[in-house]
Amino acid sequence: MKRNDQIVQPWSSCLLLGLLFIFAFLASLSHAEIHYHEFVIEARPVKRLCRTHSTVTVNGQFPGPTLQVRNGDTLVIRAINRARYNVTLHWHGVRQTRNPWADGPEYVTQCPIQPGRSYTYRFTIEDQEGTLWWHAHSRWLRATVYGALIVYPRMGSPYPFPMPKKEIPILIGEWWDRDPMDVLRQALFTGGAPNISDALTINGQPGDLYRCSSKETVRFPVEAGETILLRIINSAMNQEHFFGVANHKLTVVGVDTSYTKPFSTSVIMIAPGQTTNVLLTADRPPARYYMAAHAYNTANAAFDNTTTTAILEYKSAPFNGKKGKSRSSAPIFPILPGFNDTATATAFTARIKSLHQVQVPTVIDENLFFTVGLGLINCSNPNSPRCQGPNGTRFAASINNISFVFPRRNSLMQAYIQGQPGIFTTDFPPVPPIIFDYTGNVSRGLWQPRKRTKLYKLKFGSRVQIVFQDTSIVSVEDHPMHLHGHEFYVVGSGFGNFNPSTDTAKFNLIDPPRRNTIGTPPGGWVAVRFVAENPGIWLLHCHIDSHLTWGLAMAFLVENGVGKLQTVQPPPLDLPRC
Ligand code: C2O
Repeated sequence: MKRNDQIVQPWSSCLLLGLLFIFAFLASLSHAEIHYHEFVIEARPVKRLCRTHSTVTVNGQFPGPTLQVRNGDTLVIRAINRARYNVTLHWHGVRQTRNPWADGPEYVTQCPIQPGRSYTYRFTIEDQEGTLWWHAHSRWLRATVYGALIVYPRMGSPYPFPMPKKEIPILIGEWWDRDPMDVLRQALFTGGAPNISDALTINGQPGDLYRCSSKETVRFPVEAGETILLRIINSAMNQEHFFGVANHKLTVVGVDTSYTKPFSTSVIMIAPGQTTNVLLTADRPPARYYMAAHAYNTANAAFDNTTTTAILEYKSAPFNGKKGKSRSSAPIFPILPGFNDTATATAFTARIKSLHQVQVPTVIDENLFFTVGLGLINCSNPNSPRCQGPNGTRFAASINNISFVFPRRNSLMQAYIQGQPGIFTTDFPPVPPIIFDYTGNVSRGLWQPRKRTKLYKLKFGSRVQIVFQDTSIVSVEDHPMHLHGHEFYVVGSGFGNFNPSTDTAKFNLIDPPRRNTIGTPPGGWVAVRFVAENPGIWLLHCHIDSHLTWGLAMAFLVENGVGKLQTVQPPPLDLPRC
């Protein structure tokens, strides 16, 4: 017996260890959770800049609730519309594999949820982690209906950087002193540019530099010496932003859902739709420091040139004042670049590289060249109140001269699945109808786009390259292009007109960042590559909402492949009808 024990024991403990290991592994795999939420969309009184507005919110919160999930988890979100507008919700950056039904853009993947109705968004996060966000995708409701969607790594899988002591989501937004839907309505009526916002916000608060705001300025207490992760989201409607924290270095470690090679900077530039993760170590003398954001503006047009602030407050900052309530004196202010500092914006963006080597498609099946920019629609009566754009015109925007028109009778996806004709065509042009000097002096005859609902068909699995080329029509401008349902690698960018023979050779096919939104530099181009592996209809658009309103969008129709795993899921039963 004894001898047997001695022989058996090492073997059994070894087996036991092995089994334990396998169980632990399986447990970590199966640890995916299902998160149930109810999002009640309704108007609530919100006071900003001395005035109370009836503001559309989710669950009475502005900004809306932060969703915290892990890679692999499933979300089930019941959206209940108690507002007076049609609404949809979009989970910005979630790939929604084979599941366009949960993507959300109104009249693209679903008809809007009408007042009094509800719809349940069900989706799983598959192999994505990082900072994402959610927002309304119907008219201009996203001005106030938005929040963070944080995707942590799976259980037991660490960040590729030292674990921060705390994490802070920073949502940069824009606030209007009017109902944003009225701002939109007026712009749609006049054909002119929508009113600029009255304040910028951090986590819904304008901060110390605006009237009636300093009591609510957002404060982030930190312990001296600790490292925190800032998850910065540009949820603003119409502006790129510079962001910095006084006297503190920021170490960029991720953008959208990719980890990046860490680099240190004193300022970041972030476009609407983008997210940036930075580490900040509280290694400065204990005091109060402003974090601030203001516009990076590239167009020859009016913009909100105010500055929003929040306060990074060391807990050990010396007290000032006898009541011991306020710490030290006025916070220290960061130096932000000038509003039109394209050199700083470009240098920052160029430093963003994937942490590891990535698999970029090298053989291209679909080589697309998309001009993006503004345009003007001529009016027969230029004095009409409906033609208040430049020189009695109406503003428009287009890709390859097609200004995208959202259907109203049905959503594109529903029309596609039901085989309903007359809602869209699939002849979106892969190149502009005419070749011209895109960033030069463009003749007025080329300023007027055509309004259509055109899609571009992609075979399942096709390897796609898109070069976005800004034009100087009306004004050059940075256009943050956002693709639904996929992420792309940003392989190159430059100023002037794209030159395929010289520029392609300089592409980064080793460690480009993978993103869902990338800016087309003002008067320049940016090239992206991706594999169309997600069947369905996916919107591609400029994330500046005034441009989206004017038609700076198109959609891809990615066809089903072979078998169930390459085919769009059947639509959910509660999918709203138009
Ligand atoms: Cu952030 Cu089409 O969306």
